[in-house]
Amino acid sequence: MTAPTDDVWTGGIADDISRTILSAEEIAKRTAELGARITADYRGRDLLVVGVLSGSFLFIADLVRQVNLPLALDFISVSSYGDRTRSSGVVRMLKDLNQSIAGRDVLLVEDIIDTGLTLSYLIDNLRTRQPASLEVATLLDKTEARVSKIDTRYVGFECPNEFVVGYGLDYQGRYRNLPYIGVLKPSVYATEDA
Ligand code: PRP
Repeated sequence: MTAPTDDVWTGGIADDISRTILSAEEIAKRTAELGARITADYRGRDLLVVGVLSGSFLFIADLVRQVNLPLALDFISVSSYGDRTRSSGVVRMLKDLNQSIAGRDVLLVEDIIDTGLTLSYLIDNLRTRQPASLEVATLLDKTEARVSKIDTRYVGFECPNEFVVGYGLDYQGRYRNLPYIGVLKPSVYATEDA
């Protein structure tokens, strides 16, 4: 993986982060471990990796490069209505899959599971299409915030119940490009709210 050099991140958006939760190196190491497990688990099967846009875009890009199998990729995009500081549970499909998943081994990839309501909707929706199997991989699992139970086969890290950004995770659409995961300074919200 080509990571930007550290000095690129001195100043600028890194100044809006109060504390690093996971460094780029920690994420890369764990992603390689998950990739090795997925490689072993899905050998000889028809693996279709499905990224849930937009938050998963960096994780899925790095994860599939650690899976040594002839997998296929697809993406799905959903949007929750209502106050996005908490999921509303009402989900609208923005972009569906480009292909049938009937009889295939589907691995849904998320950046974070919070309440679980988004994945709950997606799992129910995809199950009706009769995949051979349907599993979940998430980089972060915020189990403290869980409302809907989700079975997660592959979890990168347990996530503290704080507002984290970076490595795909956003605040109002920004900070996804930060190569690590951190906590946003409260002053950023104060500025936005002013
Ligand atoms: C985030 C994340 C999950 C969802 C998790 O997506 O990528 O899809 O929230 O929350 P939940 O478990 O409480 O449902 P978001 O709706 O912020 O969109 P994004 O992926 O475009 O950032």
